[in-house]
Amino acid sequence: MQTENTVWHPHLVTKADRARLKKQRPCLLWYTGLSGSGKSTVANAVDDLLFERKCHTYLLDGDNVRHGLNGDLGFSDEDRIENIRRISQVSKLFVDAGLIVSTAFISPFQSDRDMARNLLDDGEFIEIFIDTPIEICEQRDPKGLYKKARAGEIQDFTGIDSGYDIPHQPEIHVKTAEQDIRACAEQIVDYLITNGYVN
Ligand code: PPS
Repeated sequence: MQTENTVWHPHLVTKADRARLKKQRPCLLWYTGLSGSGKSTVANAVDDLLFERKCHTYLLDGDNVRHGLNGDLGFSDEDRIENIRRISQVSKLFVDAGLIVSTAFISPFQSDRDMARNLLDDGEFIEIFIDTPIEICEQRDPKGLYKKARAGEIQDFTGIDSGYDIPHQPEIHVKTAEQDIRACAEQIVDYLITNGYVN
């Protein structure tokens, strides 16, 4: 790391100050799951419910971030690790700004999700496993990517020829095949209310 001649500047306005102003407990809602599992859909639905409750939020989404900040990265293991490293660092800044941040990335490796968790203070990282069986993701195939992967037109596709580590102990376990999107979103918002993140 190139930090030899740089100095960390503490801020006068702290995360706690920003959180108090916003009347919420900043945190990172880390959605993980296969392509087509419903990460973005659920994350958007939660964001919408939180907005209605006047929470200050921000959502970082896989496809969108790969159009900009991470436009130089592909889907090799190495690039996915770098993708998640950058997202984790950006998310940490947003949490520091006092926001309730959501990230919707496949984030296939437990070690990377743990790395993101360890960047934050205790209780700030909430791992949300969007647990949708691959057969259902493949049936949904909203972008036609499973079809392409099966035809050999896309390599390193998660769940087919690239791995996915099932989360060990996610704070929230959501089964999109068993309940509708609204119920999934309410399950997450209920967790945030019960645990004092939002009012
Ligand atoms: S990762 O693994 O966290 O770095 O992936 P992520 O940044 O979330 O990007 C996933 C989206 O990229 C599209 N896509 C692929 N996904 C998986 N494997 C391969 N090879 C691939 N190629 C393109 C796909 O649209 C993913 O979006 P979601 O929303 O997950 O379906």
